[in-house]
Amino acid sequence: MKIPFFKKASILVTFLTFLNLLSLIDATILAIDYGKGFSKSSIIGAANPLDIVLSQDSKRKDVTGIMLRPDNKLESIERSYGSNLLNFQLRFPEYVVLGLKSLIGKTKITDIFSDFNSGLQTLYDDDVIKIDIGTKHKYSVEELVAMDFNHIIANAQQQFPNNKKVVLNGVNNQINDLVLSVPNYYKQKERLMLHDIVEISDFDRSLGYVDDNLATGISYIAKNYFKLESDVKTHFIVYDMGQESLKTSLFTAFKNSSALLNKDEVVDLTIELNGYGYDKSLGGDHITNDLKNLLINKFLDKNSNYKKNQLLSNSKFLNKIIQTAEKCKLVLSANSDYKIFVESIIDDVNFKSVISRKEFEDLVMKNYKDRILQPLVDVFTTSESIFNQQNVSLANISSIILTGGSTRIPFVQQVLVDYLGNDYYELLSKSVNSDESVTSGLAIRGVKLENSFKFKQNINVVDKLIYNYTLTANENTAIDVFSAGDSYPIKKMLNFSLDSFENDKEVSLILAEDNESFVEYIFKLNNVKKCDFDDAAVNVTVSIGNKKNFAIDKVESVCNGTASKISTLTINKYLGRQPLTKSEIRASKKHIKLLNEKDEQKILLTEALNLFESSLYEQRSFLEDVESNELPEELIETLQTCIGEYIEWLDYDSDGCTLQDIETKHLDISHQVSNIKNYQKSLTTSLDLNEFNSIFENITSWLEDLEALDDFYLAAVLNKTEKFTELNISESVLDVYNGTPLTKRLSLQNQTFVREIAELKEDFIPKLSLLLANFEKEDRLAKFELKLEFLNHLELMDEMLSFHEELFKYRYKFLEASIAKKQRLLLRQYEKSKLEKIKELGLKDKDGNLVEEVMEKAHKRAEAREKEDEDNFLRNTEDYIPNDDKEVVEDSKNHQSVEEELELDEL
Ligand SMILES: *[C@@H]1O[C@H](CO)[C@@H](O)[C@H](O)[C@H]1NC(C)=O
Ligand SMILES: *[C@@H]1O[C@H](CO)[C@@H](O)[C@H](O)[C@H]1NC(C)=O
Ligand SMILES: *[C@@H]1O[C@H](CO)[C@@H](O)[C@H](O)[C@H]1NC(C)=O
Ligand SMILES: *[C@@H]1O[C@H](CO)[C@@H](O)[C@H](O)[C@H]1NC(C)=O
Ligand SMILES: *[C@@H]1O[C@H](CO)[C@@H](O)[C@H](O)[C@H]1NC(C)=O
Ligand SMILES: *[C@@H]1O[C@H](CO)[C@@H](O)[C@H](O)[C@H]1NC(C)=O
Ligand SMILES: *[C@@H]1O[C@H](CO)[C@@H](O)[C@H](O)[C@H]1NC(C)=O
Ligand SMILES: *[C@@H]1O[C@H](CO)[C@@H](O)[C@H](O)[C@H]1NC(C)=O
Repeated sequence: MKIPFFKKASILVTFLTFLNLLSLIDATILAIDYGKGFSKSSIIGAANPLDIVLSQDSKRKDVTGIMLRPDNKLESIERSYGSNLLNFQLRFPEYVVLGLKSLIGKTKITDIFSDFNSGLQTLYDDDVIKIDIGTKHKYSVEELVAMDFNHIIANAQQQFPNNKKVVLNGVNNQINDLVLSVPNYYKQKERLMLHDIVEISDFDRSLGYVDDNLATGISYIAKNYFKLESDVKTHFIVYDMGQESLKTSLFTAFKNSSALLNKDEVVDLTIELNGYGYDKSLGGDHITNDLKNLLINKFLDKNSNYKKNQLLSNSKFLNKIIQTAEKCKLVLSANSDYKIFVESIIDDVNFKSVISRKEFEDLVMKNYKDRILQPLVDVFTTSESIFNQQNVSLANISSIILTGGSTRIPFVQQVLVDYLGNDYYELLSKSVNSDESVTSGLAIRGVKLENSFKFKQNINVVDKLIYNYTLTANENTAIDVFSAGDSYPIKKMLNFSLDSFENDKEVSLILAEDNESFVEYIFKLNNVKKCDFDDAAVNVTVSIGNKKNFAIDKVESVCNGTASKISTLTINKYLGRQPLTKSEIRASKKHIKLLNEKDEQKILLTEALNLFESSLYEQRSFLEDVESNELPEELIETLQTCIGEYIEWLDYDSDGCTLQDIETKHLDISHQVSNIKNYQKSLTTSLDLNEFNSIFENITSWLEDLEALDDFYLAAVLNKTEKFTELNISESVLDVYNGTPLTKRLSLQNQTFVREIAELKEDFIPKLSLLLANFEKEDRLAKFELKLEFLNHLELMDEMLSFHEELFKYRYKFLEASIAKKQRLLLRQYEKSKLEKIKELGLKDKDGNLVEEVMEKAHKRAEAREKEDEDNFLRNTEDYIPNDDKEVVEDSKNHQSVEEELELDEL
């Protein structure tokens, strides 16, 4: 089936034209470019061909981070995301976490993280970094990132409401799969931590972690495939300078004109990694931070009464100055100078100064000149040394794609232009839209990894390892397993001769990436059978999967060419950060769920408050329209005062109130309003003596009817007395009838019933009699109120009559059941004595079975059914469902007695 192609009236049109989906999808993928400063995301699935997810304020990117602010009155945590965070950080630095990404894979806070989060309290719990906002629960980085992810999911769900959990025609549109961009230099510790984060988050699974540059490259070739020459290798470079780091990759694109295409596919493209370079500590943040120091010095020059240490210990000042530096950096990318003005940067002092682009370049950027170039140089070096590409040089590069915010800094571009010189500077391409190239490339990759639907272009990815991977068995020398330059996913079987391990000792296998050991597996050979063949060996299968996770898949013992799996293989320990345990993940999920629930309650509360407020204003305007001369002043005044008080309460005192508080007040107002409305209605009725006489008549005759019914019911019950005597039941009929165990609902209704009767008899009738006695003297309002009271009673009276009948029927049924039970008991006693006789005689039926056995079985069955019947009745008294259920019980009873008779007859 072909997915209808919806053109959204947006800038995405050009982008979408090359991304027609072919076949149906049974999942919805959310692609997240989770940046250190900003995150971007796009969604792709059955209900959405491919769309950018916008932030709450309709931007294509959103600030990464979270605010967690305890609200002590509500015992809840206020959470905020996105662009508000920057403002919040200036006001509540202790509750705002920015740049969470820089803590992924870390076991210690980094300097650059602290520089951007002054005033935030952190602590370490084992190897887990946690944020302390003063509450009992300390928030791990894993939880914070997971919540940020959930926020992105919620955002996407809000924008694309077709993505619900409902599975329609077997298509699950719920957003549940993640593809995430990561730098290709991420190691196992980062990848393992991402795994924990996804587990905590609302995502069901992650399809893979895709190198950001690869995503840009995919997006680039998808968009430009018609420009690529067929059957020729085209090399291009992605140069990405983001906030955190600088990464370069050399890709080779290949358009295969003889490839066999699937129906509807238009082109077969391959993209292959063939060179890389990176600088993990050169990015926009480092530049901003240098600029910050420059600004601090400028401030000190003008305000000599401040000491530097004093400034460096003031978190509000530091956050303000770093945000100013960030802005300054942006402005200087377009303008030649920036006039700084920050109000009350510290105490009441304003910061006024000016900084020129020249200053910025001379004092900050110049220091980075070599480092800006190095990764571009490395791309060629590694292309030869690691990826075996002969002779790739600038001469055969088709373009250098600049991406990442920091490549917009003129100095960075200038350094590159100078390096490339006249011959090559034109290779620089700024045509890629950094804001969407990564997420769209990611989405395309996600589709391929998800493997259930396709794009028009068949895009094959050959991604490669950039580190060496080794395995160390029992502290021997490390064995090379996979090498930088190998493409992955990849799997390998390593063969060890059996006598390299001792049979009764644990064998240790340590995996390392780039010479860093990160996990130790152990297993025992104990259970391995003796093997006399020369080829006795241990085979170890290792692999690197889609997420570049390096792991041992299995260990087998090999004898005479056949392998058997060794089941004692376990992970002994991680060397470095321990992944979270299952119960830690559960606890985190639970805590986040609790926060969500409190948020939902808060939303309900806000809704109730709004509703109450609008109803107050509505009632107030109702009062204004009322013709008050017709109504008793007292009623109007009380309501007016009440509305006034409640409006005031809403404005000043409603903080921390409960739903119950609002409800009570709301009911109070509606009650008063309905009184007034009823009064208005009463103006059209006569309220004369006749009316009240008939009310009196009505109530008294109702009570008489009730008594007559009671007499009738009593007679029916007592009519069973004879049966009771006949069956020799010791209890009296009335005791059994009155002692019927009632369902919760019935006993609650009984209480209402008893109360209602008492009120009628002891309160309403006396009041009514009094009114009738002094009819002329009483005022209209008093009469009206009594009439109202009658109307209220009347409502209940109707209900009570049918309840009364229902109660009788229920108890009567119990009575009959008690009789039936006794009858069965007697029958059983008779059958038992008969059975004793049969046993003595050893009778057999026509099939040769002992009759006593057949009978005993029948008895057991009947007893079991009876027991169940009784259980059912009692179970029903806990949570009784009126009609259906009772019928079932009755049915099975009838059914049972018929069957029982039949079996006994067979004898
Ligand atoms: C191009 O596609 C054909 C058919 O699938 C295949 O045999 C050939 O190896 C491909 N060429 C390259 C260079 O991948
Ligand atoms: C290497 O590239 C240069 C310039 O493109 C070319 O002149 C030379 O023949 C190439 N050498 C090989 C071995 O391909
Ligand atoms: C990988 O190992 C080989 C052989 O030991 C070595 O030459 C190469 O430099 C290593 N590569 C990396 C990226 O560490
Ligand atoms: C060893 O393997 C061969 C072929 O798999 C088989 O024919 C032979 O019976 C095996 N020997 C023993 C002792 O299991
Ligand atoms: C064990 O590993 C060796 C070397 O990788 C391989 O040749 C052999 O087939 C493997 N044996 C079994 C039973 O898998
Ligand atoms: C009491 O009045 C109501 C409403 O007019 C009527 O439905 C009901 O039958 C009356 N009951 C008696 C016992 O007169
Ligand atoms: C009393 O029981 C007899 C027979 O059991 C029946 O005919 C009669 O209708 C019953 N009377 C009442 C008031 O249920
Ligand atoms: C109904 O409620 C009253 C008062 O609580 C109680 O005395 C009476 O026994 C109840 N009736 C039944 C059938 O439970």
